Amino acid sequence: MDSDQFREFGKAMVDYIADYLDNIRNRKVLPSVNPGYLQPTIPQEAPQTGENWKSIMEDIERVIMPGVTHWHSPNFHAYCPTANSYPGIVGEMLSAGIGCVGFSWMSSPACTELEVAMMNWLGKLIGLPEEFLNCSNGSGGGIIQGSASESTFIALLTAKERMVRNIKNVHPQLDEGLIKAKLVAYTSDQANSSVEKAGMLGSMPMRLLPTDQNGCLRKETLEEAISNDKNAGLIPCYVVATLGTTGTCAFDNLEELGPVCRREKLWLHIDAAYAGSAFVCPEYRYLMRGVEYADSFDFNPHKWMMVNSDCSAMWVRNSRHIVEAFNVDRIYLHHEHEGVAPDYRHWQISLGRRFRALKLWFVLRSYGVEGIQKHIRSQIELARYFEKLVKDDSRFEFACSSMGLVCFRMKAGDRLTQTLVDKLTQRKNIYVIPCYFQGNYVVRFVVCSRLTEIRDIDYGWSEICEVASEILNGYIPGKPNGELVSLVTVSNMSKRRENCIEH
Ligand SMILES: Cc1ncc(COP(=O)(O)O)c(C=O)c1O
Repeated sequence: MDSDQFREFGKAMVDYIADYLDNIRNRKVLPSVNPGYLQPTIPQEAPQTGENWKSIMEDIERVIMPGVTHWHSPNFHAYCPTANSYPGIVGEMLSAGIGCVGFSWMSSPACTELEVAMMNWLGKLIGLPEEFLNCSNGSGGGIIQGSASESTFIALLTAKERMVRNIKNVHPQLDEGLIKAKLVAYTSDQANSSVEKAGMLGSMPMRLLPTDQNGCLRKETLEEAISNDKNAGLIPCYVVATLGTTGTCAFDNLEELGPVCRREKLWLHIDAAYAGSAFVCPEYRYLMRGVEYADSFDFNPHKWMMVNSDCSAMWVRNSRHIVEAFNVDRIYLHHEHEGVAPDYRHWQISLGRRFRALKLWFVLRSYGVEGIQKHIRSQIELARYFEKLVKDDSRFEFACSSMGLVCFRMKAGDRLTQTLVDKLTQRKNIYVIPCYFQGNYVVRFVVCSRLTEIRDIDYGWSEICEVASEILNGYIPGKPNGELVSLVTVSNMSKRRENCIEH
């Protein structure tokens, strides 16, 4: 492909994307394909000779779109948002066009320097304490990682290394392997699955501690777990607190957990993957009170801040620890300006890294602080509007709400609420998923798409009401849960439990 063809292909693709997003309401949010649908639509082998870009374009609607779940549809209300914006997409284009690998300052100075600057902009934007920023006098700093999962894992490995060093400083005779085998980590039973996975990958048992009735991990629970482990001869090392849990968007109490971590010298990592974007609005910053106790903090602009994936913003209070844990050097990686700016390869798992700061720069400049605040506030307002619709309808019971998420159930009980989710999924007009709240099966409705408007909330609600009416027509009051059992086969029920969002 020469540059003239690239111009044509690229422009056609920009048009295609703009049309796709302009008309996304016309598509069902969920696809109707079965596993294995794609294979028969393409040849078994790669083509022997190159094809014209137009024939590739033609296959997008035929091969790809039938199997796409439209995450940016205003009718997508499952999981949590994944960001998408035009400046973000254009930033990705330029990043691909430049195609540099920024593992050190020297390997592409603009890649490192823009990232340093953007992490300062972003940190200030969400009100992070000064000591986490690259521009502070201390050794704090920020980096863009690929995911919140990666950040949690990186923080765990760093905590492990720091703990081993600290212990070896006092007891040099102790075997490193024996120390590592005794380390333990803590989080709540509401934390994202990636937190448990980090413990698994890092060979550090992750205790999933029970939460209070609002889904928050409290001080007494953490203290008791630490004390039990210490009594058993183990070494508490790492704590992950969540600001905005995946199931119900609950916030752990940092003002309680932070001092415990300080006192016990445990690394405190904060996972604010989804809700962290809300701290752009000063009125939500009370939810991060106690953040000054953290050793590391992460949130995903690629979830709720309109920066296309991947862009997970991670800050550490003391970058020396992360560099000590991740530094493996080779002569070919050295350069004459070392130490002046971060060599980000020492802060991450992979060696190579993309120029991800470009899309962040484009988004922050295109929307400005006010534009991003408006986006967050309007999505929260839409959720509150939905909440009122739930509360005003006597067939439903409101469970909880936080940020852009509302959880509710049918008063008729768990079984009928499960049926509601199943039927909505079969109809494919809106997409919601369930979770458990205080032992009950509830529907999670999240305002996800940047394109969602009040008319879409009304549409989603009318869809829910229509299906609920249909279900309640076959329901005999006074016999909650029992009457529709025949609609729900045992195998479907167990499948649903597996699909139920971790909680
Ligand atoms: C609280 C929380 N942490 C972590 C994650 C995982 O994020 P990522 O896909 O960036 O690893 C999620 C995803 O929904 C989440 O809600």
